[in-house]
Amino acid sequence: MDLPLYEKIADQIELQVRDGIFAPGTKIPSVRKSSKQLHVSVATILQAYSLLEDRGIIKARPQKGYFVQETLLESGTSNEKALAQTDKPIAQLIETFLQQHAGEDITRFSSSVPSTQFLPVRQLQRSVGRLMRLEPEVCVDYSEAQGSEHLRRQIAIRMLDAGYKVQPDDILITLGCQNAIIHSLQALTKPGDFVAVESPTYHGILQALELLELKAIEIPCTHNEGMDVKALKAAAESHTIKTIIVTPNYQNPTGATLSTENRQQLLKLSTEKSISIIEDDVYGELCYSDHRPKALLAENTNADITYCCSFSKSIAPGFRVGWIISPLHQSKIEHFSYVSSIATPTLTQTAIANFLENGAYDRHLRKTTSVYEDNLGKCIKAIKQYFPEQTEVSSPLGGFLLWITLPNSINALALHEDAIQSGIGILPGDVFSLGRQFSHHIRINYALPWSNKIEACLKELGELCVKQQKG
Ligand SMILES: Cc1ncc(COP(=O)(O)O)c(C=O)c1O
Repeated sequence: MDLPLYEKIADQIELQVRDGIFAPGTKIPSVRKSSKQLHVSVATILQAYSLLEDRGIIKARPQKGYFVQETLLESGTSNEKALAQTDKPIAQLIETFLQQHAGEDITRFSSSVPSTQFLPVRQLQRSVGRLMRLEPEVCVDYSEAQGSEHLRRQIAIRMLDAGYKVQPDDILITLGCQNAIIHSLQALTKPGDFVAVESPTYHGILQALELLELKAIEIPCTHNEGMDVKALKAAAESHTIKTIIVTPNYQNPTGATLSTENRQQLLKLSTEKSISIIEDDVYGELCYSDHRPKALLAENTNADITYCCSFSKSIAPGFRVGWIISPLHQSKIEHFSYVSSIATPTLTQTAIANFLENGAYDRHLRKTTSVYEDNLGKCIKAIKQYFPEQTEVSSPLGGFLLWITLPNSINALALHEDAIQSGIGILPGDVFSLGRQFSHHIRINYALPWSNKIEACLKELGELCVKQQKG
């Protein structure tokens, strides 16, 4: 039997929601607009919308219209849903999680950027306004291909804290650190090459390798030592590794700082075997002590190091301002950058340069890292109190990401499914390894303003773990 028209329309909209065209919390077209678009009466659309409300897909807000529910009711147990996710490529998993975590009422432990309360929004707002008023032509013109000289000069000054002396001309501004990593890989490798990465590692690195058709060799990374250089050495005996990507400071997701011994061994191996290094230092400035750790690039060796960084974790992820320093490959990288984006936005670069120049950045870093360190203590305390006894947590000395190892009986994807139903977004360990080695791990972000609600969410997560353990 043919379905009534209003039901067909409801099915069609439900499909669009489930496909992610309308994300959770977004407004769907008004009744009048849909009636015009679909050439049906207003009454039919009203019937379709009312059916979608009954199905828990949309919700009417008086005077405002119809909105997609923040959390959709789905069929199947959390274990069944987790099983369906197991074979999805990482990019697809991340896309699904981003959609699920987008709603306003989700507590986003899953994000890898600080809450906006810890970003200098007011100062940037003033700076951008002033620039547009006083220097509009500068703001709308292309910047130099290498990026604003003003900003490069400020970065050169900051690099002194990382132990490295560099001229502004030897710095290239990029569209964030991800873009810096991609251009470095383009310059250092060709499709089919082997690239060693930490395991677990930031999912963006794994996606970059897939995009450039590079083969990842996953090297174990522990939260107290960082990359296992002995394992790396063994891998270098059996494979021709072209490049090693390493995050020596406050690694994502483990929070690890590479030990001094491992740093020395890594640089020795890189020099002996002529393997280049891409150093990802995106969290390096967020240290809890007075002096940030030195960059690998600053060690006085012959190793071929390309340094990638950005202001995404400390100033403004949406500004997309990062940089590269590559003593041996700078001109090749600059060429890739020029061809792919011509220039980077002038307005955001200048706003950041002004913020760095007036000393506010150091104050901002001191304030935020002190809150993160405080939050870390509170988080660990809550996890010890509410999570199953065998749970282990990392102990980062900087950054704002906590790596949690759950008992083997707990499946992180299933826990994620349960958590999202309770309005809590976590990142399951599955996205941090192509080999899917971390299915009992989760990563949480503690750069959120601490409150009773945050503690209640951690309590709820712990209870969900216990529930899963009991089966
Ligand atoms: C280790 C690591 N590298 C690179 C990036 C990408 O940074 P950006 O937003 O500056 O591109 C991230 C973001 O989460 C990250 O965690």
